[in-house]
Parts: sequence; structure tokens; C-alpha cells
Amino acid sequence: MAVRVIEHTLRVDWKMRVTFTRDIFAASNDTLLRALADTGPRQALVVLDQGVVQSHPGLPARIEGYFAQAGPALRMAGAPRIVPGGESAKNSLKLIRQIHGWIHDHGLDRHSYVIAAGGGALLDAAGFAAATAHRGVRHVRLPTTTLAQADSGVGVKNGINLFGKKNFAGVFAPPHAVINDFDFLATLPPEEKRAGYVEAVKVACIRDRSFFENIERQVDSLASFQAESMHEIIMRCAALHLEHIVRGGDPFENGSARPLDFGHWAAHKLEQLSRFSISHGNAVALGMALDVEYSRQKGLLPAASARRILRLLKKLGFKLFHPLLRCQSPPAGSPLLQGLEEFREHLGGELTITLLREIGLGEEVHEMDTEAIASSVLELERLEQTPGS
Ligand SMILES: NC(=O)c1ccc[n+]([C@@H]2O[C@H](COP(=O)([O-])OP(=O)(O)OC[C@H]3O[C@@H](n4cnc5c(N)ncnc54)[C@H](O)[C@@H]3O)[C@@H](O)[C@H]2O)c1
Ligand SMILES: [Zn+2]
Repeated sequence: MAVRVIEHTLRVDWKMRVTFTRDIFAASNDTLLRALADTGPRQALVVLDQGVVQSHPGLPARIEGYFAQAGPALRMAGAPRIVPGGESAKNSLKLIRQIHGWIHDHGLDRHSYVIAAGGGALLDAAGFAAATAHRGVRHVRLPTTTLAQADSGVGVKNGINLFGKKNFAGVFAPPHAVINDFDFLATLPPEEKRAGYVEAVKVACIRDRSFFENIERQVDSLASFQAESMHEIIMRCAALHLEHIVRGGDPFENGSARPLDFGHWAAHKLEQLSRFSISHGNAVALGMALDVEYSRQKGLLPAASARRILRLLKKLGFKLFHPLLRCQSPPAGSPLLQGLEEFREHLGGELTITLLREIGLGEEVHEMDTEAIASSVLELERLEQTPGS
């Protein structure tokens, strides 16, 4: 029988909108209500990061008051659920089952909302739970860390870690809305305030030299966490991430390239090897420092540019070296280097690592030289121990 093919191109338009606001649950602030505006009665399940509630003890009551004024068209599915945040939120299926249970108990449907407020880890898990209940209950993200507002909360990826592997189980599912309330950031510990800067340096390095220079100019106010500089950097970083997702031609990462994961092959492995005691932000700073130094040693990136990037990371308060980076000799057997194969496996297809040719200009390679990785680590250790380098 002759082969017959039925073929169509499926196109789905999705509005990606990130709104920046202050005091999101003030009675006079209708940003969230407008994001939920729709016809017919709706239910919303609210999931809150315990770390946020500890710093904002009145938050659950304020949210209940906010919904009460919305009238019967928008009902809360019970009181806000407070769950532990941080990496442990996405290190097992526990939270996913809990959220599925709440969606089931309240009869939430695909026109209902799961509204999650918290750090990137909680948002990754809540987004995964929402996307997999009824094949997709609408999820609304309220990111509360610099990293989540600048990067993880604005994208299309959701997931959890399984089998000790970062983001092993997950889905690409765009959120219904993302609302960044800058007021949440004030209560972050310094370490968490800083964490988001690294994703800004990352996207500047691969995409936007003038943004890199802007971060350099503001380095002192960023290092001392001045709100105005932080907000400006977050907004530009979020805009660059969204532009890449929307205009980069591969929103669901079907190809092998993932430029926004510059520095992440080593970062994900360091998180795993440290049993997540190294945070994502610190791990990305280490991973980026490694790929910057490696780019220099392989003759891709001019030495002056490499020095400039490493100096900026240091001035922002990041470490350039951690003992877990050390490669044994021969380096091929080192646990860090298993991260290369795990990264390839996660992406699928050919190993593709983004390096740098210049500040603002990435370069993809498909092979990594393990000897050069080992000597880059040695150089980072030396730099970390050299004051003023
Ligand atoms: N989906 C993506 O595209 C993507 C991209 C980058 C990173 N990520 C993921 O994001 C996670 C890291 O997220 P993160 O850096 O936001 O850290 P996090 O979610 O681990 O939160 C850090 C800590 O801050 C607390 N916290 C959150 N908001 C607070 C606030 N306003 N005040 C006080 N404490 C607060 C949390 O309870 C937690 O203890 C990693 O799991 C990483 O893999 C996802
Ligand atoms: Zn990241």
C-alpha cells in the first residue's frame, strides 16, 4: 500500500507577560485580580513558601482579605497552604502529591488557578504539579527571590529533581501569569539577594555587552544590595530571558543548544555533589567562572575579557572556586566531569556547551577537553587565593 501522510503545522499563541509591582496584596492593587480576570466563577489554590511566610507573618491573612474583596466570582480553595521552600521542595514527589491532593479535594478544574508564591525551587515544583493535574491547571507565579524574579520564575520550565539528577522530571508549560513584587526581596538574606545577580551576569555575557557594562557600573550598589539597582538588573535580566524564549526559535528546547544554560553543566553537577548545600546561584557562579577560564585557555576568549568577568563575579561577592571542582588525575574519572554526560543526557542529542568568544557573544562547542577543564580549575583555585586578582 502506498504510504499516506496527513500533515499539519500546529501553532499555539501564548501571551507571556511578566508584571512588576509593589505590595501585591494591598486592597488598592488589582494586578493579580486583573491577571485572573475571566468569565464565570473561578477557584484559586494558593501555595506559599514557608520561608516567605516566616519573614512576612501577616501574608496568609492579607491574601484571604484580598480574595474576600474580589467577591464570589473568585473563591479561594481553602486557606493558603504553607509548605517548606528551598531545594527540598523539589527533591521528591511529596509536594507534587500534596498539591494534586488539594486540587482533587477542591474539585479544581482546568479553568482554576494554582497561585504559588516563593523561591525558584517551590515555583518549579508547584508549576509541575499544576501542569500535570488534569493535563494543565492554570498556574500563576509570584516569585519572591531575586533569582526567581530575574530568571527561573519568568520562563516555561517546571520540574523536580529525581534519582539525584537536577530537573529529571518536568514539563515545559508557560505560566498563566508572572507577577514580580519587589517588596518581597527586602526580607531575603544577603546570600539569596546576591544569587540572582549571577543569572544577570550570565545572560549579559552571552547576549548583551552593554548590560554587562551596566552591571559593572552598578557593582558597588549591587554588592551593598541597594534596591534601585537590584530592581533595574532584575527587570533587564527577566526581559532578556523572555526575549530568548519568545524570539530564540526554540522555546521548548527541541534542539541541542541551550545558551541560557551557560555555566550550568558544572553548576548542576556541583549542586548534586554537594547534596544541594551549594545553592543554585553560587553553583552557577562557579560553573560560569570555570567556563570563562576554559574559554580563555582554549584561545576563544581574550584574557582581558576573562579577567573582567571573573573580577565582576568576585566583586559581587561570589566565590570562584570550591573543592568539589577539583579534578583527580587522570581527570576523565572525576565526578565533576560526569556532569558533562548528564548535561547531554538531559538536553538530548549532541553535547552542546556554550562558551564565550567575547563579552556579549557566546560560542557553542560539542566537545570539552578534560585536561583543559582540570587546568582551568587549578587556575580558579589560584585566583581565589590571590587577593585583589
Ligand atoms: N525553571 C527554570 O527555568 C529555572 C531556572 C533557574 C533556576 N531554577 C531553579 O530555581 C531554584 C533556585 O531558586 P532560588 O534561588 O529562588 O532559591 P530557593 O527557591 O531555593 O529559595 C531560597 C530560600 O529563600 C527562601 N525565601 C524565598 N523567598 C523569600 C523571601 N522573600 N524572604 C525570605 N526568604 C525567602 C526560601 O524559603 C528558601 O529557603 C533551583 O532549584 C534552580 O534549579 C529554575
Ligand atoms: Zn540558572
